[in-house]
Formats: sequence, C-alpha cells, structure tokens
Amino acid sequence: MTVNFPISRTCPFAPPDEYERLREQAPLVRARIPRGEVWLVTRHAEAQQVLSDHHRVSTDPASPGHPMPLMRPDDPSEEELEIRRRFQAGQFIDMDPPEHSLYRRMLIPEFTVRRVREMRPAIQEATDLLIDDMIRAGSPTDLVDAFGFSLPSMVTCALLGVPYSDRDFFRARTRKMMDTGVGSSEEGIAAAIEVWYYLDKLITVAEREPGDDLIGRLVTARRETGELTHDALVGMVFLLLIAGHETTANMIPLGVHALLRHPDQLDALRADPEGWPLAVEELLRYHSIVDWVGFDRVATQDMEVGGQAVRAGEGFFVLGASANRDPRVFDDPDTLDIRRGARNHLAFGYGVHQCLGQNLARAELEIAYRTLFERLPTLRVLGEDDELPFNYDGVVFGTRALPVAWSL
Ligand code: HEM
Repeated sequence: MTVNFPISRTCPFAPPDEYERLREQAPLVRARIPRGEVWLVTRHAEAQQVLSDHHRVSTDPASPGHPMPLMRPDDPSEEELEIRRRFQAGQFIDMDPPEHSLYRRMLIPEFTVRRVREMRPAIQEATDLLIDDMIRAGSPTDLVDAFGFSLPSMVTCALLGVPYSDRDFFRARTRKMMDTGVGSSEEGIAAAIEVWYYLDKLITVAEREPGDDLIGRLVTARRETGELTHDALVGMVFLLLIAGHETTANMIPLGVHALLRHPDQLDALRADPEGWPLAVEELLRYHSIVDWVGFDRVATQDMEVGGQAVRAGEGFFVLGASANRDPRVFDDPDTLDIRRGARNHLAFGYGVHQCLGQNLARAELEIAYRTLFERLPTLRVLGEDDELPFNYDGVVFGTRALPVAWSL
C-alpha cells in the first residue's frame, strides 16, 4: 500500500494519528511525495538502523534519489542554485563522512559535558535576567517572545561572541527566520541572507583578531590546519545558529505548557528538583519537535531494512515522532511520564549526525524550566489550547505564541 505524504498532525501534542496505524502495519511504508516516492521508517529499531548506517545511507541532498528535492513542486532556478551553493559551504548536517567528520571534529570540544558545565552560570544569568524583565513588564505576557525565543538567542550570542551592541539586530533577524521558515519564504530567505552576511563580517573581524570564543577558536584552528575556506567557516557558524536556535526556542514553551497541563508531574518536580534532567528527556521524547524534515536520507547501495529490500537511490523519511512513540520501546508511549527515565529517544537523532549541541540544549532546557517554575510558582496558561497558534508546517514543531499570567 502507498500512502500520501506528508501527513499533518491532528493534535498538537501528538504525532499524526495515522503514524500509529502505519507503525503497526510495517517498519517501512511506501509513500507518495510531490515528485516521487519514499520509504517512511516508522519504528524505533529501523529508525536507528537507517540513521546509523552511513556506509549505505547518505544525507547529502545532492545524492541521487534524495527525497528532499522531490518535495518541491519544481526544480530550483539557476539563481536559487547559485545562492544555495554559496550558503551551503560548511553546512555539515548535509554532508556524509569523511567530509562531515572533518567539520564536526573541529566543533566537538565546544560542546563537551565539561564545556557545557562551564557555560551553566551564563545560562542561569541570562535566564534570571529575562525573568526579571518579565516581572518588571508585568503579567500577562507572551512566553515565546519574552522568554522561549530570547533565551537561546542570548546563549547563542554568548557562545559565538556576538557583541552586545548587535544583539537586537541578531535577535530580530533570527526571529524573522524562525517565524517565516528559513528556506521556505522570501522573507525568511532575506533574513537568512542578512544573518549570513552579518556572520561573514563578524568572522572577518575575528580573522584579524581572534577572541576567546567559539569563532575565535575556529579561526585559530583554521589558520593552523588551513582546512577551511572563509565561506565554510561562516556556514558552520550559521548552521550552529539555526540548529541551536529554532529547536530550543520551540522546546521551551512546549515544555512549560506540557507541565502546566500536567500539574501532578510539575508538583513532583517541585518536590524533587533532582528529577529535572529526566523530565527534560521525557519532554523531548513526548513532543518530538523534529520529525521527518530533519531525518531525510537516501540509500546509496541496495540494503535491507526491517525485512524490506531497499534499492540504491530510494529515499527515506525517518518518522522521528513515530519512533519516539513506538510501544516496542516505550511503555504506554502516548503518556507524558517525567519519571520514565528513557534516554533512548531519538529527539536528538542517532548516528554520526546525532545532535552536536545536545548537552547545551539539555542544560538550557533544564535551567529554563526549573528557574521559571521556581521564580513564578503561580504561572498559568491563558486561554484554551485550540486557540494557540501552533506551527504545523515548520521545519520544527512549536507554537508561535504562549500567553501566560502569574501573580507575585
Ligand atoms: C531542543 C533542542 C534541540 C533539538 C531537539 C535538536 C535536534 C537535532 C536533531 C534531531 C539533529 C539530527 C539531524 C539529522 O540527523 O540530520 C540535530 C543535529 C544538530 N544539532 Fe541539534 N537539536 C537541539 C539543539 C541544538 C543546539 C543547542 C545546538 C548548538 C548550538 C545544536 C546543533 C546541532 C548541529 C550542529 C547538528 C548537526 C550535527 C551533524 O550533522 O553532525 N542543536 N539536532
């Protein structure tokens, strides 16, 4: 049987209903996409297999048969291809090993558990500053704008060494990119190009005088090894910005919302704050904000997945949101259970492309949730869930606003 794809979510807090049916039908399901067909990978085990087999599976959109170009109604124009070629340099999320490893290796030291531990005081300070601002401006507010979006923006600026005076520019453009979709609207593309040129300038300055921040260290490493072009360096930093921003910015309000709607679980965390790290894992699994758009692959050799023969040149969309609700791995998967203790979710992916920033993301989410609920214990969501402007078509699932109120 061949199904039509993509399939929309019916409830904002769960993958599309259809995913469950497909998952029980087979681990691989054939699907029709705008200009071809693709394999949907529905179960956890097969998702791990496809995402970790970089010998037979490619993530490069230029590989023959890659499904992403087939999602567009037409081929890109020459002009678009030219823009993409320039901006594609250094975007190692779209590369296969060994090229991918060259880039990723340079960044690994920036995201170790130890390095992230050193960043925690700065994350805590940014969190407290934002909550001070919220309190000063008064209840009610939009938590996405006042907090969820702003915290990752501040953390990214600190990580990359964006000067304080440029933060408003940076924040406005990244918000525009997030609201409109980086690659899917003229406005989003225009904002992305502005950010790219901004980073281009920032890196040019750092090339003359490298500071003690991520960009400074990359510039120095590049000088020593001569491995990177200037454009590739800009591209790498741009990727960090996009990958780290939209994801965390969407997870913060969604997690706050989920806990406010499950007060028993929030109470349990208030009674035992040691439970926060596991709660973060469960919120990541439950929401699965990165679904198939982040897990687009193509077979480069004939292979077998879940008993199904797959030929070279056939594409995959791994349904991350389905794998994270696979009852073969998670008991009672549709229930939010902050004590579940399951770290084997695929919210950060799996294999060589597994999220490079996951330690940082975990720290940001934990500090954000814990501090917000500690400092604003009466926090509540205003209005009904069906009034919230959920973003059903974005690269990452989320809500564009979350009205909240509190009393002190
Ligand atoms: C809640 C937050 C986050 C989620 C859910 C998330 C999710 C993901 C996922 C699913 C992938 C794998 C994509 C694939 O397989 O192709 C990924 C890759 C990546 N993420 Fe994250 N991410 C988050 C936060 C961050 C942060 C804070 C950073 C850095 C500042 C970051 C940087 C990256 C990078 C650079 C990659 C590409 C890795 C590679 O291709 O080797 N992410 N992320």
